Amino acid sequence: MKTPTRPEQGSDHPAIRHVNEAAFESGEAANLIATLRAEGHVLLSLVAESEGQIVGHILFSRMWVDTAKGRVPAVALAPLAVLPTYQRQGIGNRLVRNGLDRLRGLDERIVIVVGHPDYYPRFGFSSATAYGIEGPFSDEAFMALELVPGALAGIRGRVSYPPPFRIE
Ligand SMILES: CC(C)(COP(=O)(O)OP(=O)(O)OC[C@H]1O[C@@H](n2cnc3c(N)ncnc32)[C@H](O)[C@@H]1OP(=O)(O)O)[C@@H](O)C(=O)NCCC(=O)NCCS
Repeated sequence: MKTPTRPEQGSDHPAIRHVNEAAFESGEAANLIATLRAEGHVLLSLVAESEGQIVGHILFSRMWVDTAKGRVPAVALAPLAVLPTYQRQGIGNRLVRNGLDRLRGLDERIVIVVGHPDYYPRFGFSSATAYGIEGPFSDEAFMALELVPGALAGIRGRVSYPPPFRIE
């Protein structure tokens, strides 16, 4: 069945919390989303709907790569969540792909994710470390994507996340 995606509206917030709590079996991701929203770090928040119910959600926030020549803007993909009973039906896939398309439309160039190394390469993500991007994560899970070919050429430095992520 088709599961369209669209930007979140204010009235979606409780449903987004529910999807994240169910997918992660914890309130941590839902609390992070609320804080990122409240502090103005969110660039894009998409929901997936099935028969009027929100069954998936993805969030993109502003982050930076600190280089010797200054800060380069990038986008953090986190979190991504699909209700357990709706997983493995391509909903996560659609949220990521639609999100990346919309980010291109916003003239964003670089996306960083820390996630399952078996999942994100299908969207074009590959080792951030291999690009010369540093962060406090294991090599495998720490991935980057160029939304524009060559966007990471010559960019070397350390990632800087918005404070609510508590990543130093
Ligand atoms: C990860 C998640 C968002 C995927 O959503 P989904 O709608 O089930 O994904 P899709 O249907 O588009 O894709 C299914 C693929 O994801 C893979 N996948 C799902 N969960 C995975 C996991 N934990 N690790 C690795 N791969 C995973 C499946 O293997 C499947 O791949 P296949 O089609 O090659 O078998 C969803 O499983 C989820 O909400 N998980 C709990 C929260 C989470 O871990 N979020 C991601 C944080 S990086």
